[in-house]
Amino acid sequence: MLKNRHVISVRDFTREEIETILEHSERMEKIYEKGDDRLSGKVLATLFFSPSTRTRLSFETAMLRLGGDVISLVGKEAASTAKGENLADTIRTVEKYCDVIVLRHPKEGAARLAAEYSSVPVINAGDGANQHPTQTFLDLYTIKKEKGKIEGLKVGLMGDLKYGRTVHSLAYALAMFGAEIHLISPEELRMPRYIVDELVEVGAADVEEHRDVEPILGELDVLYVIRIQKEMFPDPEEYERVKGSYRITRELIEEHARDDLIIMHPLPRVDEVEPEVDELPQARYFDQVRNGVIVRMALLDLLLGDAE
Ligand code: NCD
Repeated sequence: MLKNRHVISVRDFTREEIETILEHSERMEKIYEKGDDRLSGKVLATLFFSPSTRTRLSFETAMLRLGGDVISLVGKEAASTAKGENLADTIRTVEKYCDVIVLRHPKEGAARLAAEYSSVPVINAGDGANQHPTQTFLDLYTIKKEKGKIEGLKVGLMGDLKYGRTVHSLAYALAMFGAEIHLISPEELRMPRYIVDELVEVGAADVEEHRDVEPILGELDVLYVIRIQKEMFPDPEEYERVKGSYRITRELIEEHARDDLIIMHPLPRVDEVEPEVDELPQARYFDQVRNGVIVRMALLDLLLGDAE
């Protein structure tokens, strides 16, 4: 069903297809530690033109754990991009070296363009402020693993909803799965209108916007926090106005959250979740990191292997 597919946006996937990825991820739990050689002979290329720790390394370790190999180009200075090569030519070159390309690029739409020129699957690992579909798959997997379901859950997405590609992808997917979505952000960092408008249409149980987390915190099953995406701001003054404008503290959680709340974060964290929160039973962000490997193993197997 997913063999040789490009993975550019969550919008390109049906709920059933996403469920296939989540179910296959469950199977990968068993081989996460020891690995196997089902993708032996296959090569994954990571092309990262903007910063990353988790996304690149988790794709690379996922491929290695399944017996495949990895080639990697990191930073635009290292690539012929620095000599003026365009993305289309880079892709028409790299596709000759590998069986799948994982691309992160600062420009929205870069992954879609790359897919047009590639005969091997292109996986979007983040294109500007637009989309980050594989982060969404691992976020959904984490929620499902912790809560047993997604439908009907009250999920708060909090922080820089304007520029955060993780929440742009995740909000859409949560809507597809019938969650109740609470968008929590300062006025300046609200979720783009075109995304909010489509959420109910796509299937969200409800969508509400809030300026503060405190009044809604006690109702939430999941609180998903992201940092202010400083590098996406076209105007540094705009950033100065909002920096430090929200913060999850231990006290806030202890006073207002339910015991069975889970707190998620795609990481990196800057100052929006204070370190004392890490010790609380609700914190799940480092579990997400582990789940990221499992889900990416599942995805690579579905795209390149014999799995159905
Ligand atoms: C996110 C990203 O790159 O969009 N990080 C990640 O992939 N885990 C979130 C962020 O940078 O804030």
